[in-house]
Amino acid sequence: MDKFLIEGGKSLRGTMTISGSKNAALPLMAAALLADGPVTITNVPLLNDIFTFNKVISETGTQVLFDQEKRELTIDPTHLNNHVAPYDLVRKMRASFYMTGALLGAAGDARVSLPGGCAWGPRPVNLHLEGMRALGASIEMDSGYVIAKAPNGRLPGGTFTMNPSSVGATVNLVLAAVKAGGKSVIRNAAMEPDVVNLCDNLNTLGARISGAGTPLLVIDGVDHIAPGTIHNTPDRIETGTYMIAAAMIPDSDVTLTNTLARDLGSFTDTFRKLRVGLEVGDSTIRIRSADRIPPVSIETAIYPGFPTDLQAQWATMMTQADGKSTVTDHIYPDRFSYVPELVRLGADIDRRDNTVIIRGRSLLKGASVMSTDLRASVSLVMAGLVARDETEVLRVYHLDRGYEKLEDKLNGVGAAIKRVSG
Ligand code: UD1
Repeated sequence: MDKFLIEGGKSLRGTMTISGSKNAALPLMAAALLADGPVTITNVPLLNDIFTFNKVISETGTQVLFDQEKRELTIDPTHLNNHVAPYDLVRKMRASFYMTGALLGAAGDARVSLPGGCAWGPRPVNLHLEGMRALGASIEMDSGYVIAKAPNGRLPGGTFTMNPSSVGATVNLVLAAVKAGGKSVIRNAAMEPDVVNLCDNLNTLGARISGAGTPLLVIDGVDHIAPGTIHNTPDRIETGTYMIAAAMIPDSDVTLTNTLARDLGSFTDTFRKLRVGLEVGDSTIRIRSADRIPPVSIETAIYPGFPTDLQAQWATMMTQADGKSTVTDHIYPDRFSYVPELVRLGADIDRRDNTVIIRGRSLLKGASVMSTDLRASVSLVMAGLVARDETEVLRVYHLDRGYEKLEDKLNGVGAAIKRVSG
């Protein structure tokens, strides 16, 4: 398993290009199964989660061609003939559960493994299943698999109220409803840019979805989704991660390009409270670190609130702030595996229920650390970048799931990160 050796204390200066979003690409890939012919998706990141989902899609007899140089993925479902997503692949990546909605919509029938637990908690799929029932599907369980069927091969459509608002369940229901026989209404739908991007792109291929970006989605079923080209959006979590990295590392001056500031929601306003240099353009963001960081407490919330996918990075930055702050996660109350690892690096941080209390500023010192999930791993890399001496971050395969060329991008602006295979 690969690890990183990080020599801390180097400032970040220069330009970093933001990749296409992982979480927005996966719904687009699933949506391609609904089309009458090949769909090409642009700006797809080179990430292990994308490769895993390509395998899941290929299992169905769908043809997948990834032009990695161009970052263009072409998915042709013309010969889709197998409606199964097997446990072996689904357990590697929960988003494979999008196959339930995609196969129901494309073929009226799906056999998809239940995803199981996750490093930071149970992560249920009850809303996905209740929602599909509300759209008219019959749902049964068999040996760890969900068997979903549409009566006479096509869902009639229906109304469902999401509680809580779930990104994954909203995506799955949109996929199932787009080619339904009638109209579907999703109340309290997720408003995340990933959902908006899916709906907008599907509409360009002939879908009739209105209300994307609001809590009320109305989907009028259509007979056909046309082949064509659709576009993935820049990764807002990668953007936020590098904004935080630039803010927390002294003497940094970083410009992020190919990004989309409007997708950051209220994160930009929260970030301004750090009083660092911030210039926001349409597709670029420049961050200049300041001598001191004030303590800024945050609480995660659904979009446009503070994303749970950035709370670990924020808490890591707060170890460098002058004073006490808190980070509370209301979306995933157990997502704190990074806390004991930051303590190993010298942070003064502890957890009470779904809140961590951080007392800054701590002078971090390199040590060996290991994390159990994607966002926790990147936080440990960031801590290593400000720590004295060498930090060893083990099991970086988590990072390879969700950050394209992380060490190359950071080394390109002055970091000293070495990947060691083994
Ligand atoms: C997606 C993102 C993930 C992000 C999360 C929240 C992808 C591939 N992953 O995950 O990076 O952290 O959104 O922004 O896009 N819930 C239920 N029942 C369900 C489904 C969800 O109770 O059936 C709850 C969850 O436990 C959680 C909340 O709803 O408390 C939101 O989760 P959800 O939006 O579904 O997250 P994911 O789509 O799995």
